[in-house]
Amino acid sequence: MKCVKKVTDNLYWVGANDRTTERFESVYPIPEGVSYNAYVLIDGDKTVLFDTVDFAFCRPFLENVAAVLDGRKLDYIVVNHMEPDHAASFEFTANAYPEATIVCNAKIQTMMGQYFNTDFTERFHTVKEGDTLALNDHTLTFVMAPLVHWPEVMMTYDITSKTLFSADAFGTFGTLNGKLFNDEFDFDRDLIDHARRYYCNIVGKYGKQVQNVLKKAASIDIQRICPLHGPIWRSDLGYFIEKHDLWSSYKEEKKGIVIIYTSMYGGTQNMAEIFAAGLNDRGVTEITMYDAAKTHPSYLIADIFKYSHFAIACPTYTGEIHPLIETLLMEMKHLSVQNKTAAVMENGSWAPASGKKIRAMLDEMKNINVIDPTVTIKSTMKDAQTADMDALLDAMAASLK
Ligand code: FEO
Repeated sequence: MKCVKKVTDNLYWVGANDRTTERFESVYPIPEGVSYNAYVLIDGDKTVLFDTVDFAFCRPFLENVAAVLDGRKLDYIVVNHMEPDHAASFEFTANAYPEATIVCNAKIQTMMGQYFNTDFTERFHTVKEGDTLALNDHTLTFVMAPLVHWPEVMMTYDITSKTLFSADAFGTFGTLNGKLFNDEFDFDRDLIDHARRYYCNIVGKYGKQVQNVLKKAASIDIQRICPLHGPIWRSDLGYFIEKHDLWSSYKEEKKGIVIIYTSMYGGTQNMAEIFAAGLNDRGVTEITMYDAAKTHPSYLIADIFKYSHFAIACPTYTGEIHPLIETLLMEMKHLSVQNKTAAVMENGSWAPASGKKIRAMLDEMKNINVIDPTVTIKSTMKDAQTADMDALLDAMAASLK
C-alpha cells in the first residue's frame, strides 16, 4: 500500500522512515530513526526517479513508485549516491523498470559493478559537471559533489523548479512522522541537534569539499532542497545553509564549553564537577557535561563541533588514556576537529600519564589551543591541587568571556 507525499504538483516523495535500525552504518545510535528519501518527478510524458532506499524498505518503496507512475513507464533513474542506505534497492528497481535509462556519473557506474550482479552498462547515460538533461518543461543539470559524503556523490538541480536534489548534504537524522517540510517541524528546537550529529559524524571530515559545494550552491537560485535524509527545505534555507557553512569551516556555533570525563570510581568525575562549578563561579553559564561511559561518542563529537571550548578529564588506564577517551580523541582526529580551545585534567593513582598523552593527541589536530596547566590528581582531588585548578579555571573563564 502506497505512502506517498506530494512535494509539488508534479514531484512526489516516495521514500521510507526507519525506526528499526539501531545503529546507522553500524556506528551511530539513531533512537530518533532516519528517513531515506527518494523522489519521482512527472513532467508530462517524462518520468524520473531520484535515488532509491535502504533494502529493508524496497517493497513499500517499489509500491510507492508504482503508485505515482500510475501505469506510466519510468524514463530515467537518477542515482546521486551509491551508499546502500539509498542505492541498495536500485538493482531491484532498475530491473523492475527495464526501459528506464540510468543517469549517473562514471564513478557511480564503477560502484554499481561492485554492489550488483546485473550489468547495467547498456542503460547508462553518463553525466559530468554541468551536463543537462532536458525533459519536457523541466531541465536537469548535474553538480558533482565528491566526498559529500562518498567520492562518487553528485547532486541534481532541476533548473525549472529550482529544486536541488542534494544527496546526503542538508540531511538529518530523525524520521518524518507524516510530515515532509522543514517548516512543519520546530527544527531549531527538535531537529538541529540530530542534524548536527548527522553532519559532524558523517561528513565532518570533509569540510573543504562541503565548502566547495556551498560555493557552487551560492551561484544558483535554489528554492527547494530535497535531501536524502530528513525534511525537504522549502523556506528559511539560509538558516540551514549557514549552519553547514559554520560546521564545514570548523567555526563554533556557540561560545561555550563541553566537559567530557570518564571516571572509574568517582575521583575524576569529582574533578570535572569542581571544574564546571568553578567556571560557573567565574560567570560562565554555557556549560554542558557528559560521562563518556554513558554517551556515544557521536553526541560528544557533535557538541565539540558546536562549542568553542572543550575540556577532558580522564583517568590513566594501564599507563594509557582511558580507552573511551582515547576512542573519542581518535574520532576527533579522523573528523578533522580543529580551531578549539581546550583544557586537560588527568588522574592516576600511582603514575598519572593520561594528560600528557591526551595533549600529544590534541597536538596532532589542527589549531587546538590547550590552556595550561594540566591539572593532575592522584586518586582524588586534594587541597594541594587547588592552585593548579584555580589557574586553569581563571585562564579558561577568561578565554570564554
Ligand atoms: Fe545517506 Fe552517504 O548515505
